[in-house]
Amino acid sequence: MTTYDLQPHGAHATRIIEEDHSLLSPSNTRAYPLVVSHARGSELWDVDGNRYIDMVAGIAVTATGHCHPEVVAAIKEQADRFLHVCLSDFYYETAVELARKLADIAPFKENARVFFTNSGTETVEAALKLARYATGRPRMLAFLGSFHGRSMGALSLTSSKYRQQQGFAPGLPGVTHVPYPNPFRPILQYNRFDDYGKVVVDYIENVLFATNVPASEVAAVFVEPIQGEGGYIVPPPGFLPALRRLCDNYGILLVVDEIQSGLGRTGKWWAVEHSGIEPDMVLTAKGLASGMPLGALIARESLMQWEPGSHGSTFGGNPVSCAAALATLRLIENGMMDNAARMGEHILSVLKGFQERYSIVGDVRGRGLMLGIEIITPDGAPAPHLRDEIVGEAYRQKLLIFGCGPSSVRLMPALNLDATLAEEALDTLDRTLDAIQKSIQA
Ligand SMILES: Cc1ncc(COP(=O)(O)O)c(C=O)c1O
Repeated sequence: MTTYDLQPHGAHATRIIEEDHSLLSPSNTRAYPLVVSHARGSELWDVDGNRYIDMVAGIAVTATGHCHPEVVAAIKEQADRFLHVCLSDFYYETAVELARKLADIAPFKENARVFFTNSGTETVEAALKLARYATGRPRMLAFLGSFHGRSMGALSLTSSKYRQQQGFAPGLPGVTHVPYPNPFRPILQYNRFDDYGKVVVDYIENVLFATNVPASEVAAVFVEPIQGEGGYIVPPPGFLPALRRLCDNYGILLVVDEIQSGLGRTGKWWAVEHSGIEPDMVLTAKGLASGMPLGALIARESLMQWEPGSHGSTFGGNPVSCAAALATLRLIENGMMDNAARMGEHILSVLKGFQERYSIVGDVRGRGLMLGIEIITPDGAPAPHLRDEIVGEAYRQKLLIFGCGPSSVRLMPALNLDATLAEEALDTLDRTLDAIQKSIQA
């Protein structure tokens, strides 16, 4: 059974899904046959009145929980003043205030400049263009297993599922993918006393640059400080510092894609801060405006020096989204980031307990409220079917969790998840793992 065999929990949902399937693009994946009626905090209700615990938060987007009253109030207040004028052509204070806040929290000491977009993929496009513009170099490096979006440039960097690529080639020329340092499933040979992150960077320098890709032609390396869609993989501690040194040695820009990992989710504003290094650009979107569409490319001031007209966007930095983002960042700063660190540590320890009790749990990893569980077969291989069973069984028990990577489950709840809901979610996950573990032993 896969998650696609799941049935809606009522007749109203069944009717809407049938209609959806005859009208909307079939390219949407649709993890669940769930038709949402309304949602608050980390709870969500479907159109047939069923209640779910939401541990996915609109794919790490509703950072402050669904419909936080302060975010909703900020949206209403801005909607009453004006909805749009176009930031490429006019000025407004909300955008300046938000840019100031993002510049203040940027993970580098140099002054920052901000370019606003509508989404993650559009932020990646902006970074690709700025990297070429600022360096005059054509090539890019990215990592196997990465997800950077689906527009043509961002898709060329993405490497998490072949389905996302099939039928769309060719992508951007000059993009080379290298292994992401996944310590649980390394694909390069190495001595286990070495830091596997440094091994990957050695491979880039001593194999790739020596044989195939002239380092002097590489504009930027795009990297997720914790790989998200690829499996919630936390790289070894030596990785990002070694990557920073490599970039410095060859004049390459280090672009951290924090679209999923950023904005307090890992207990710091940016996941890259756990490594102690400074990137040249940081990309954000998803949780920035608690569900309103908004993204931002935050770059060192010395880099973001493109001419007027060289890049722009009609909707990017929409004033209602900016107002939602200002409220979101205030909430994250005033308690939610700390909650993410505390709650994340607690949940991680409970998940480690599951790893001891259930042999199907091969690895448990993550930081803050970005947590992954890798599901394995008895001989340690990835178990995508079992993972799908777990996601499906959780849905039947009205708990929303998601897959990522070949065989992992991820938890990415709102940053203000409270202890009571966390316990309810973990109890349900425990029952789910128990049921699936027993089903393979039967
Ligand atoms: C790390 C990362 N980058 C980029 C994107 C693309 O963002 P969007 O779906 O808003 O285009 C995602 C989306 O999952 C992501 O996780």
